[in-house]
Amino acid sequence: MQLKELIKFKKDDGIVIRGPNVQSKAIINPARHLKYYSVNKETEEIMAHNLKWVKNGEGDPRFQFVYIMLPTSCNQVCRGCFTGQDKSKLLANLDGPFFRNEELEAILGTAKQVGVQAVIYAGGGELFTWKSAFDYIDRIIGHGLGMVIFTNGTLLSNAEIAWVNDRNIALIISIRDTIEAKHNQLVGRPHFRLALKTIEECLRLGMQGDGRLAVEMPVTINNENRALNDLLPFCRALGIVPWIEEFIQISTSNEEQSVCHDFGRAREFFQKMAAKDAELGIVWSPEHGTRMIDQPQCRRPLYSFTVYPNGDVVDCPSHSRKYGNLKEEPLERILDSERVREVFRLFEYCPCSVFYTDGDEQIPLALPDYLEELR
Ligand SMILES: C[S@@+](CC[C@H](N)C(=O)[O-])C[C@H]1O[C@@H](n2cnc3c(N)ncnc32)[C@H](O)[C@@H]1O
Ligand code: SF4
Repeated sequence: MQLKELIKFKKDDGIVIRGPNVQSKAIINPARHLKYYSVNKETEEIMAHNLKWVKNGEGDPRFQFVYIMLPTSCNQVCRGCFTGQDKSKLLANLDGPFFRNEELEAILGTAKQVGVQAVIYAGGGELFTWKSAFDYIDRIIGHGLGMVIFTNGTLLSNAEIAWVNDRNIALIISIRDTIEAKHNQLVGRPHFRLALKTIEECLRLGMQGDGRLAVEMPVTINNENRALNDLLPFCRALGIVPWIEEFIQISTSNEEQSVCHDFGRAREFFQKMAAKDAELGIVWSPEHGTRMIDQPQCRRPLYSFTVYPNGDVVDCPSHSRKYGNLKEEPLERILDSERVREVFRLFEYCPCSVFYTDGDEQIPLALPDYLEELR
């Protein structure tokens, strides 16, 4: 199936993604795992290794990937952006310069030593606004590491997409709605067609066949029906990994929070997504802590870590328990510290967003203030 068979033009809405009656037989080779990033058997082994490391005190911790956050600017102002791009109030740990080459070399060298397979770019802005983005990518690839890039997909030419594809990089392209007019309003720019054009070119190059193409959309009560009826079947029909996730509410205004799911609505949403996928021939069940469809409970701190421009090394970009700072201690020592052991030892489901819970009694007792009202 081709992307153009799954879009139409409507007078007031512009381009619209539709997922009309896509049946399981229409799905060719559905990609359910994103290369380097999704949880797989190896991830489970890494987590088991780390728990053993904490228990026995022998050996070293291992990690699947590292998020290296950068002080990149952005060409969009998406409402509720978790790094704060829409409010000109960035997360404090994004406040710092780009890493110098020597610093980056040290991070990548240590990352390799602790088993990291890929570097993830997840912000804080749009990587391709930065003139050195391609040199940065090449430096990472030069270390024999893979890469996953979250991007709004608006700045890449076809030649650049081919360049990215040649390096086996996985792209997660973000949209805010399946309707052009709504997406453009939410990102504050007329960018829907640019994102769609990039998705189409990635498909043409076959990135989906290798689990290297995802489309991401944070879900609210405004777009949840289209996530279910349009985006999910669209992705399944084209072999794209549907990265449909709960809204992270750490940089949201009260008004934005009012359209995010509460725990009850999140429960209903994941159950409906699983039922729709079952109709499409893909079987999974939400589990306690699931925050993305068709993915298990979020346990990222047990197999990844995050480095910020101010030097902070933390457990994950959303929850951010600090392990140390690169200006004070080398990464190798930070990762081997008691802070990391404690996060592993006492690991519990992070209440940084609203996740799937089987019932109200599973909602964590301690929630950050911004989630208390969503109980
Ligand atoms: C911060 S963005 C940076 C990369 C790039 N600018 C982009 O939009 O893809 C990384 C990812 O976080 C997602 N994101 C941003 N704010 C979010 C929120 N409040 N909840 C869930 N996901 C969010 C974006 O849609 C994107 O997929
Ligand atoms: S494009 Fe990405 S970084 Fe920029 S505002 Fe949107 S979500 Fe945030």
